[in-house]
Amino acid sequence: MAPLVNIAGLSVAFSGVPVLRGVDLTLHKGEALGLVGESGSGKSVTWLAALGLLPRHAQVSGKVTLEGREILGAPATELDRVRGGRIAMIFQDPASSLNPVLTIRRQLCEALALHRNLQGIALKAEARRLLDLVGIPDAGRRLDAYPHEFSGGQVQRIMIAMALAGNPDLLIADEPTTALDATIQAQILELLSTVRRELGMALVLISHDLGVVAENCDRVAVMYAGRIVEEAPSNQLFADPAHPYAQGLIGALPPLDGPRRRLTAIPGTVPDPAKMPGGCAFAPRCALASESCGLAAPSLAPIADDRRVACIRAEASRRALLGIAAE
Ligand SMILES: Nc1ncnc2c1ncn2[C@@H]1O[C@H](COP(=O)(O)OP(=O)(O)OP(=O)(O)O)[C@@H](O)[C@H]1O
Ligand SMILES: [Mg+2]
Repeated sequence: MAPLVNIAGLSVAFSGVPVLRGVDLTLHKGEALGLVGESGSGKSVTWLAALGLLPRHAQVSGKVTLEGREILGAPATELDRVRGGRIAMIFQDPASSLNPVLTIRRQLCEALALHRNLQGIALKAEARRLLDLVGIPDAGRRLDAYPHEFSGGQVQRIMIAMALAGNPDLLIADEPTTALDATIQAQILELLSTVRRELGMALVLISHDLGVVAENCDRVAVMYAGRIVEEAPSNQLFADPAHPYAQGLIGALPPLDGPRRRLTAIPGTVPDPAKMPGGCAFAPRCALASESCGLAAPSLAPIADDRRVACIRAEASRRALLGIAAE
């Protein structure tokens, strides 16, 4: 069976400066995939590019297929059917995605009319059902309110309702909870999980909060400087990260239970895309880097079933993490 979405060699450059440098990613039906990495690593651009949502001056290359059909560079009419229909996306800045001068009813109904071909009473009933589903109290009355009349958490829920309007096979949620306090954040994520289970929908959860990803995703891909540097089932990645960058990120994650591990921030910053180092982009920040790391960018290679890592020192770095001396 063809995977739901397959991304191969996806590259993006803005004004000749590469920001995405060959992303490979496969997503299966119903799966929850976390995409993590520091700010600027290319998490949002990956999906904006895949869905044809980048500005015209972006140079995009590679392959993106939806159930085997190429969607990268597909005609606008086909992409319109895919976006919001097969694949929905909740953007990083939800407030800007709702139109402030239209009621929620109008905006939900537009999405429903476009993707589900509903009309009249059925359309109104479905708008109300969706608002109910995402836990907006008194949904019938609240449909006539404008976006500014809702709290930040409620706006986020409405965004989810809008995204669900097309019955998508895949929901891409880009930092859906960053602006919210911890309780609301947990509620929204719980809501996403419930909806996903009920609808059999796949989810890509983009976040720089590793804890959020660990709890909500089956598999995690770690991005650094426009590439995926490690991909693994969540539990394995968190128990035993292989890439020194993933180790740094996970070392910096305060444990929820068990003995407290030391908080370790990764020294240095993400390289400027215009001044990308040759070889491994993480090498300048990597405690394990050797001369050979500067020679060529390592490719994402399998280290076990379901696990891939782009690091020529991965084995040495696992040993260092486990405190085993190299022979
Ligand atoms: N429209 C654009 N024009 C020029 N550069 C862009 C544009 N959009 C993104 N970039 C650049 O592409 C790189 C990747 O950006 P992206 O938004 O994917 O990062 P991200 O991983 O989503 O970060 P964050 O966690 O901050 O959301 C960054 O260097 C960013 O400055
Ligand atoms: Mg982003």
